[in-house]
Amino acid sequence: MPISPLAKPRPSTTTTTTEAPAFVDPDEQLNEYFVREIDRNDGCALKVKQCFLGDVGCVVWDAAIVLAKYLETKQFYDPSSGVNVWSGRTVLELGAGTGVVGLMVATLGAQVIVTDLEDLQTLLKMNIHENQALINSGSITAKVLKWGEDVSEFLPHPDYVLMADCIYYEQSIVPLVESLKLLCGPKTCIVCCYEQRTEGVNPEVERQFFELLQQNFCCEEIPSEKQDPEFSSPDIHILHIRRKA
Ligand SMILES: C[S@@+](CC[C@H](N)C(=O)[O-])C[C@H]1O[C@@H](n2cnc3c(N)ncnc32)[C@H](O)[C@@H]1O
Repeated sequence: MPISPLAKPRPSTTTTTTEAPAFVDPDEQLNEYFVREIDRNDGCALKVKQCFLGDVGCVVWDAAIVLAKYLETKQFYDPSSGVNVWSGRTVLELGAGTGVVGLMVATLGAQVIVTDLEDLQTLLKMNIHENQALINSGSITAKVLKWGEDVSEFLPHPDYVLMADCIYYEQSIVPLVESLKLLCGPKTCIVCCYEQRTEGVNPEVERQFFELLQQNFCCEEIPSEKQDPEFSSPDIHILHIRRKA
């Protein structure tokens, strides 16, 4: 996969408990990790390991935080009024990276498969292990899913497909949309969160993605009032995407 301009994560405007030091000697830090904590509304925190060195998937992106916190808002999960959309639901995350989004919904009761390329499997499995104590009725497994390849192992169609910051390089557009078409049935809801970028090829990549997607899917943008009040940003969009009837 090409290293895109995205390879340097944007300094987060959201919470970070343990940040990478300003200078890291690559030789010393090979295979070393630093931890980011993402607070849940109940006071527990997900602990997510990120790598000092690696490709784009080995750090938590802002879109992942915005999506994870949206999926915890009261419209999905409100124990005081007995609401839990996630309880028993099947969820597949694409391009999961560190796994933070899938981990969030697994801790809320969903049956989750987090997927990414082979290179990310060790980090995904490590983060699942690290957060296992927070997962009770839910479950989470990491598997390889390369966009555009066979998805039969992920069928029947899941209730939800989650994607954070997966629209970012030109060669992925066709295979990504192909995977969405194969994975999504009439009842599947894709919840897609992406950071709108104005530089380089990014606007054109986004335009091409949505043009292709909308041949088969309808998109509904989620207004900021329905997002987490703290973890949202004008340049980070959340969409609900469903197959056209
Ligand atoms: C910008 S990162 C976002 C990671 C994570 N969702 C987040 O927001 O923190 C994009 C992710 O897509 C994955 N990815 C890129 N191309 C892929 C492909 N062809 N098939 C599957 N995953 C891919 C990368 O490995 C990476 O984890």
